[in-house]
Amino acid sequence: MIFKDVIRRKRDGLKLTLGEIEFFVRGLADSSLPAEQVAAFAMAVFYRSMDFAETGALTVAMADSGVRLRWDELRGRGPVIDKHSTGGVGDKVSFLLAPIAAACGCFVPMISGRGLGHTGGTLDKLDAIPGYRSLPSVEEFRRVVGSAGCAIIGQTNDLAPADRRLYAIRDVTATVESIPLITASILSKKLAAGLDGLVMDIKTGSGAFMETVEEARALARSIIGVAGTTGMQTHALITDMSQTLGWAVGNALEIAEVIEFLNGGARETRLQETVLSLVAEMLVLGKLADDHQQARQRAEAAVRSGEAARRFERMVAELGGPADLLTRPARYLPRAPIVEPIFPLTEGYVARVDARAVGNVLVGLGGGRRVAGEALDLAVGLSEVSSIGTRVGKDQPLAVVHARSPEQARQAADALRDATALSGAPVSPPPMVHETWVPP
Ligand code: URA
Repeated sequence: MIFKDVIRRKRDGLKLTLGEIEFFVRGLADSSLPAEQVAAFAMAVFYRSMDFAETGALTVAMADSGVRLRWDELRGRGPVIDKHSTGGVGDKVSFLLAPIAAACGCFVPMISGRGLGHTGGTLDKLDAIPGYRSLPSVEEFRRVVGSAGCAIIGQTNDLAPADRRLYAIRDVTATVESIPLITASILSKKLAAGLDGLVMDIKTGSGAFMETVEEARALARSIIGVAGTTGMQTHALITDMSQTLGWAVGNALEIAEVIEFLNGGARETRLQETVLSLVAEMLVLGKLADDHQQARQRAEAAVRSGEAARRFERMVAELGGPADLLTRPARYLPRAPIVEPIFPLTEGYVARVDARAVGNVLVGLGGGRRVAGEALDLAVGLSEVSSIGTRVGKDQPLAVVHARSPEQARQAADALRDATALSGAPVSPPPMVHETWVPP
């Protein structure tokens, strides 16, 4: 096959055959296709798109380009279900959802990534836990999933390697924002992880990649439609990312918020609502509850009883982290030298937040990445971030900044003030879950 002809056919808006797609993925995985042809192909797909059958074929071929995990040892013990988020600011949902779902009978083998740009990465947050091995062997991963019910780790080189190469090329050729390519990228990794089911958390709002609900719907439609062609049961929730999720933004600060939540301490209601809604969807999808109401009650009981905290503790300890992280977090989590409140210049109710700019405050502090591979300052960030509808003023700060230097703290304060619009009149917060998508 001459790949230039395949690129031309897609460029001209034609539907590709299974053979052409499989040829592309083989050439990606063994590097026989040069980067310029891969980039031209990605740009052709960006403009001409792919239908569900083509996207499904790309998904399966990329999943088959490496190892496909199987969870035979868990058969009969519970469903193997994961959640995937399209990413946001302050999104620490995975650390709560995985142990809560595990406490309710799911097995959650969660393979996550590092952050780039304004959204934080789950793996970077895990780095704030001293000793935690986020790249264990496959055997160790399986053992921890079997015993704790959940394990959150990084992507190994042998899971969907074709996607890894394609993604790296898309990242530098302005072809990331293609619905079929995003769909195939996400689903290929999930298929390779051997899941029975997947719940997608598609975020929308100023801190999300899909800023409008229409864009989020287009991705939900594609993911549900394509997952249906691969046999992996998938539901999707469109959730709000028009402001920071929870109170903290920053790697160690977000882990501290998670620990407080699991320990039965204070919780931010929007974070709680997001986590419980997603866990409930996992339990319904995994047939562990008859309906959402029952699923939610089970999830709440798992937090109240402390079982979710015990699952988290076991996962951390078995992957090399401190066994007493939940009882003595301050002993382990790094802290920044400068901690000070950021007050608004006037009084009022928080009306609008540019969540992308808030994510970039973390990048400015050194806690987020400008370019791939950059080392992070895990201690810095924001805590006690005021949410939409909160009254702020000289006694109530917009947030508390954790910085390495006074200059960084000042810049972060200016940027946060610019990112927040106040209103003189009370403001209602947006709903947390906009829509739920299930296959027809
Ligand atoms: N996340 C992925 O894994 N792949 C994409 O293409 C976009 C987001």
